[in-house]
Amino acid sequence: MEEFYRIKRLPPYVFNIVNEQKHQARVRGEDIVDFGMGNPDLPTPQHIVDKLISAARDPRNHRYSVSRGIHKLRAAMSDWYDRRYGVSLDPDSEVVATIGSKEGISHLILAVTAPGDVVMVPDPCYPIHFYSAVISNADVRSVPILGDEDEFLARIERAVKDVWPRPKMLILNYPNNPTTGTVELGFFEKVVALAREYELLVVHDLAYADLVFDGYKAPSILEIPGAKDMCVEIFTLSKSYNMPGWRVGFVVGNPRMVGALVRIKSYLDYGMFQPIQIASIIALNGPDDCVRDTVEAYRSRRDVLVDGLNRIGWKVSKPKATMFVWAPIPEQFREMGSLDFSLMVLEKTKVAVAPGIGFGEGGDGFVRYALVENEHRTRQAIRSLRTLF
Ligand SMILES: Cc1ncc(COP(=O)(O)O)c(C=O)c1O
Repeated sequence: MEEFYRIKRLPPYVFNIVNEQKHQARVRGEDIVDFGMGNPDLPTPQHIVDKLISAARDPRNHRYSVSRGIHKLRAAMSDWYDRRYGVSLDPDSEVVATIGSKEGISHLILAVTAPGDVVMVPDPCYPIHFYSAVISNADVRSVPILGDEDEFLARIERAVKDVWPRPKMLILNYPNNPTTGTVELGFFEKVVALAREYELLVVHDLAYADLVFDGYKAPSILEIPGAKDMCVEIFTLSKSYNMPGWRVGFVVGNPRMVGALVRIKSYLDYGMFQPIQIASIIALNGPDDCVRDTVEAYRSRRDVLVDGLNRIGWKVSKPKATMFVWAPIPEQFREMGSLDFSLMVLEKTKVAVAPGIGFGEGGDGFVRYALVENEHRTRQAIRSLRTLF
């Protein structure tokens, strides 16, 4: 029987091949040090959990909530932008709460594109940026991201000018998953100018806004005057507050795009469980020392991993942001490609990494380490990886 139309366009996740091997190894009783998935391992801060529990005891919070998120939650997001970036957002027309940012991105793209619209997506990228456009029947154009930001921008500009019909949307993500690349505000200034000239919608994923090191500060595209005319930004509580399982995200900025997402979501869901929304207000309003502790934990793990890899002869550089290390495959193994290399590393060293090809063809020369193992386990992994060299 023929496969369903949309399902046919969604290939099995490459990561599942490594996950299956990992599972088999664990069934055999092997201890796998697992840097494979960017699934934060640290606990949600206690004051947020406490608020969830007390709000869950109140029967008024057991009813259907509102799909776009309760007003106080949207106001807390708006205040967060004001405090951090000096960006003012109207909680009613420029902020929508989503069931994690993954849901927000996918339904946003479904809401604002027509079948066949050209959507430009960096290669490599977080897979949902690519596949949400695929699910929406958009025409996805991959733009190689590796190299410096100006080269990337030049490629985008070329695509905007040469591709017909003219691209409708550009998806960006800085600090970047998987490459850990970062930009300064000047980059967004150029993006906004380009978007204005070519009537391009821009979707910027700011998931790693808080996970920054060594004095780096991640800019928001909405800091550029007039950016709201064509840009939205996406934020999530998953990473900053260790709340991945809670599913809380936001799409903010351009009121037309936010309004379209609000409309489509009103047909699809009744909003998050209200105690989760109430606890999320507490998270956003602070205190922020829990965020600083999380950043410190990732920084320390990053240093142990990167210093350790360099010591055993695997040359990698230290990322300024994110919870990842994007490691070029060592020269002597590069021919294998990232999938076979990852499978070989798993088999020989019991260390799991994500093959770069899972993020797009442009990622095939790399593997991604997610900093979700503690320092002790990371040192154990380094000792084991040493045997490859
Ligand atoms: C760039 C990026 N955006 C979004 C997400 C998903 O976040 P959420 O938990 O809010 O769906 C991730 C998760 O790894 C990510 O790396």
